[in-house]
Amino acid sequence: MKLFDVYPLYDITPMRGEGAYVFDEENNKYLDLYGGHAVISIGHSHPAYVKAINDQVKKLGFYSNSVKNPLQQELAEKLGKVSGVKDYSLFLCNSGAEANENALKLASFHTGKEKVVYFEKSFHGRTSGVVAVTDNESIKSTFNKGHQVVKLAFDDTEALENTLKNKDIAAVIFEVIQGVGGLDEANNEFYQKASELCKKYGALLIADEVQSGYGRTGDFFAFQKHEIRPDIISIAKGMGNGFPVGGILIDNKIEAKFGLLGTTFGGNHLACAAGISVLDIIKKEQLLKNAKSLFDYVKEEAAKIPQIKKVKGRGLMIGLEFDFEIAQLRKDLLFKHQVFTGAASNKKLLRILPPLNIKKEHFDVFFRALKTALK
Ligand SMILES: Cc1ncc(COP(=O)(O)O)c(C=O)c1O
Repeated sequence: MKLFDVYPLYDITPMRGEGAYVFDEENNKYLDLYGGHAVISIGHSHPAYVKAINDQVKKLGFYSNSVKNPLQQELAEKLGKVSGVKDYSLFLCNSGAEANENALKLASFHTGKEKVVYFEKSFHGRTSGVVAVTDNESIKSTFNKGHQVVKLAFDDTEALENTLKNKDIAAVIFEVIQGVGGLDEANNEFYQKASELCKKYGALLIADEVQSGYGRTGDFFAFQKHEIRPDIISIAKGMGNGFPVGGILIDNKIEAKFGLLGTTFGGNHLACAAGISVLDIIKKEQLLKNAKSLFDYVKEEAAKIPQIKKVKGRGLMIGLEFDFEIAQLRKDLLFKHQVFTGAASNKKLLRILPPLNIKKEHFDVFFRALKTALK
């Protein structure tokens, strides 16, 4: 059987990973400034993480959500402590799209409404409801387009209020810093106002932290900088360091009911072991602090390169905006200098999403490669 051909592939086959590096079948070493799309949080094959998963699979890899699983409780408690958010409950699932899908469903259950507001350049996933609130018509089928959604400009509080005024909106979903869209972040007043308007008109505020969460921006959640309290927070990517796990944090004011949400694989023993280990390592190795301080270093180094017009993002969720389209530069970095980077819908933006335990020396390697590639 052949594979359903939906991914344009680079001709590279990573076979193993170690920290900030991956190695191909000929043992060529690549610096990973892409983190497999912001997924690798604690570094490839972190020994403590490998041990935790190994130990768990020897005991029990999976059982269904019809029995007690104390690892879920341990994960929820650690997540509360490490993230610093209080009075939320955790529902576990398997991916970012599934997290957002559950967030939208729950908002609709809670409010009894069905319409959802989303923003220009947003990306929330590819399943039915979340692709409907993603700003990319080319990945929506007619089936997906059946949802009731309203798209607004990212920083337009007036349009937001005019839309919410009708009191028929179940939820407003947003990425605090847009990932795929190109690292845009609205100003603090926008988040504050959006939060206030949702309360006023009875809509739930959903922060999609699938990419920006888990310390990537130097705060555990990107919204924390804006001092707001979303009603639902979606998480995935960095949560399992590559082990498929996602979830939503749900404000305790939203009541649970048996059967309201559910999944076969979500919150399984192995996923929890991976998730617990990631949180332990983030805390022990102070990875939030590392992410924050490295951003300043990247800004300093980027300022020395005239072709870089702007440094976007925060922490280790970085966009380097050039004065030309970067597709070829990205290929050169990968094939001539063995450095993985990411792209965005903004064709001039190089995305940098490395493991959170990356060091200055790795960025020195990158900037040397970049300078040569730009010659
Ligand atoms: C902000 C955001 N939300 C949701 C998703 C979807 O996550 P997944 O691919 O795990 O379904 C992504 C993936 O890139 C994302 O960046």
